[in-house]
Amino acid sequence: MASILRSLIGDSNRYLKALTLFKKHTTLYRNTYDFIDNQLPNIMPRNLNGKSHLNIIGVGSGSGEIDINIISMLRMKYPSLKVDNEVVEPEPQQIHDYKDLVSQTPGLDHVTFNWNQMTAEVFEEQWKGNNMTKKADLIHMFQMLYFVKDPGATISFFHSLLNKNAKLLLVLLSDDSGAGKLVKNYGKQLRNNSNDEISYLTTAEVKPLLEAKGLKYRCYKLPAQMDATNCYVEGNEEGELLFDFTTEVHNFKKSVPPELKAEIMEFYRHHACSLDANGKIQFNLDSEVLVVDRV
Ligand SMILES: C[S@@+](CC[C@H](N)C(=O)[O-])C[C@H]1O[C@@H](n2cnc3c(N)ncnc32)[C@H](O)[C@@H]1O
Repeated sequence: MASILRSLIGDSNRYLKALTLFKKHTTLYRNTYDFIDNQLPNIMPRNLNGKSHLNIIGVGSGSGEIDINIISMLRMKYPSLKVDNEVVEPEPQQIHDYKDLVSQTPGLDHVTFNWNQMTAEVFEEQWKGNNMTKKADLIHMFQMLYFVKDPGATISFFHSLLNKNAKLLLVLLSDDSGAGKLVKNYGKQLRNNSNDEISYLTTAEVKPLLEAKGLKYRCYKLPAQMDATNCYVEGNEEGELLFDFTTEVHNFKKSVPPELKAEIMEFYRHHACSLDANGKIQFNLDSEVLVVDRV
């Protein structure tokens, strides 16, 4: 009988340990902050100068570093703008860390934070149940659509909350990233054996969903990589956690059957997925930002 693999997200302790480590070893966050500083200002709705108030919804915000960067960028560009920020994040420790970050970040007096410790799906149910009519100017989902049950339905719901001219940002791994190639080649084997729900999504699956709904979008590149050198050091715990994080398999090295594991590890470090640079293995995590408009 095929062994049953668990997905990493099912073990929140291990997931958070791996995520913290991932943040240290990837260029994804630095490049996301560059995107926020240099490209997002030109993507934001043009009419912000005349506004006094902005509604933002962050979905799957984690511990909030990206959200706070967006809010800080907006503060610099539009100093008199007040911000109402809905945070949708199911993981209690992440919300706790986000609140800590808020308390340690100066200059956030103009922001009201509304904490929704729940999944995007429960948020949708409650929003509809309460007949909420509030609309948003910016909704963002950074690297989180992999975790929702029905990405198309989640996109439709949050898109319906946008004001005219407002933007929905969907940020995911791109199809031609190393991670994208890995899941295209091995996703079925890893997921067929899994008893958890998480999809190996890339922007290649999300673009057709948008097109089928007639939603217009633009696409921005977000290059990134992760130093995976430790993943190939026998018995290195950091490497094991990083492998778990990038394959989304709980305890990848101990759970995946040996033949499949060897094949995947070889594929992962191959130049199609990783670069070998100065003795370091750099796993490619190129992502894309899909900016969906509300016309
Ligand atoms: C890869 S992390 C990204 C966190 C943050 N956006 C960032 O880029 O640093 C994915 C986040 O989505 C959250 N998440 C998982 N399932 C979710 C769901 N169904 N609805 C909303 N968020 C979810 C996780 O708890 C986690 O914080």
